[in-house]
Amino acid sequence: MKQPNIVHKVEHIYPIFDTILNQQQKEKLNQQRALVIWMTGLSGSGKSTLARSLENNLYEMGFLTKLLDGDNLRSGINNNLGFSDEDRTENIRRAAEVSKLFAQCGVVTICSLISPTIAIREMARDVIGDDLFCEVFINCPLEVCEQRDVKGLYAKARKGEIKKFTGIDAPFESPANPSIEIRTDLHSIEECQTQLLDNILPRIKYQ
Ligand code: ADX
Repeated sequence: MKQPNIVHKVEHIYPIFDTILNQQQKEKLNQQRALVIWMTGLSGSGKSTLARSLENNLYEMGFLTKLLDGDNLRSGINNNLGFSDEDRTENIRRAAEVSKLFAQCGVVTICSLISPTIAIREMARDVIGDDLFCEVFINCPLEVCEQRDVKGLYAKARKGEIKKFTGIDAPFESPANPSIEIRTDLHSIEECQTQLLDNILPRIKYQ
């Protein structure tokens, strides 16, 4: 059942941030730097594939990671949200808040969400904090994503069976200045995986 998004005023609340163990202590324990690797791109651009391979590669190298994928979150914590602008904003806000919790625990957090607009990604950056937020643009032209159509969703969107589908009748705004950009239409999967890993490793190495 769809629940309303209730925003309560934060009052009579006494957070204890100064007395709980901090991110630096957790990073020392985990022997890694925390980071939120925020992968944005069209459906079918390769986000989930690259997110999974990045997590596997980092695991093999001894890093503690958490992968947060849009489709997975939408079957759990975000299962009351659809694809209106308002619901996408709430989807990203929750994903960002959850990412922050993992990152504060010293975990390398990999997020794979369309996060279609500049404003929505700036909100995520604000929630997570500029130091921790690493924007990765998984760049692939719409025509190629549509040709791949791994989930068959573009065909449905073209037939009008899915409304407000990103890239068809809902916007996708490319990041102007991402930390990392991967062109999945120009390079092989292996090349993209290597490019991503090579760019991430120096950012999460301890010392
Ligand atoms: S976001 O726009 O709110 O960031 P998110 O990454 O969580 O999207 O979910 C995208 C996934 O939901 C897609 O990979 C696709 O499988 C599915 N989906 C279902 N309906 C839509 C839609 N209208 N637009 C985009 N993706 C959709």
